Amino acid sequence: MPKVTVHRKAHFNAAHRLFHPEWSDEKNAAVFGKCSNPHYHGHNYDLTVSVTGEIDPITGFVMDLSVLRELIKSEIEDAFDHKNLNVEVAEFKSLNPTVENIAVVIYNKLRAKIRTSLDISVTLYETPRNFVTYSGD
Ligand code: NI
Repeated sequence: MPKVTVHRKAHFNAAHRLFHPEWSDEKNAAVFGKCSNPHYHGHNYDLTVSVTGEIDPITGFVMDLSVLRELIKSEIEDAFDHKNLNVEVAEFKSLNPTVENIAVVIYNKLRAKIRTSLDISVTLYETPRNFVTYSGD
């Protein structure tokens, strides 16, 4: 069967602070700029989750997009939306919540819930012009 990629877009707002705990505020500011504000700040994150696999000959689906929508809601939006990532999300207690690391955490959470015959890829925008992709390498 043809291999096709299906995509689902999602969105969450979250606060973070980028910093290395062993560095001074000055050094953190030099490396991370405004994102190291000790009082935190927010971003509007735009997420695209892409799932690639063969079309199921019975359903015509690669993956039921309503199932993917619910997975993104329960695993990502409910966990991250309107949260302080550093303080409220366990994965970032000791992991700097850069857009790169957030994309990897999202990938790993979804990877655990989607059957392994499907390849997945995460595209995460931190700003309209800054975004990353992660496909599990
Ligand atoms: Ni930031």
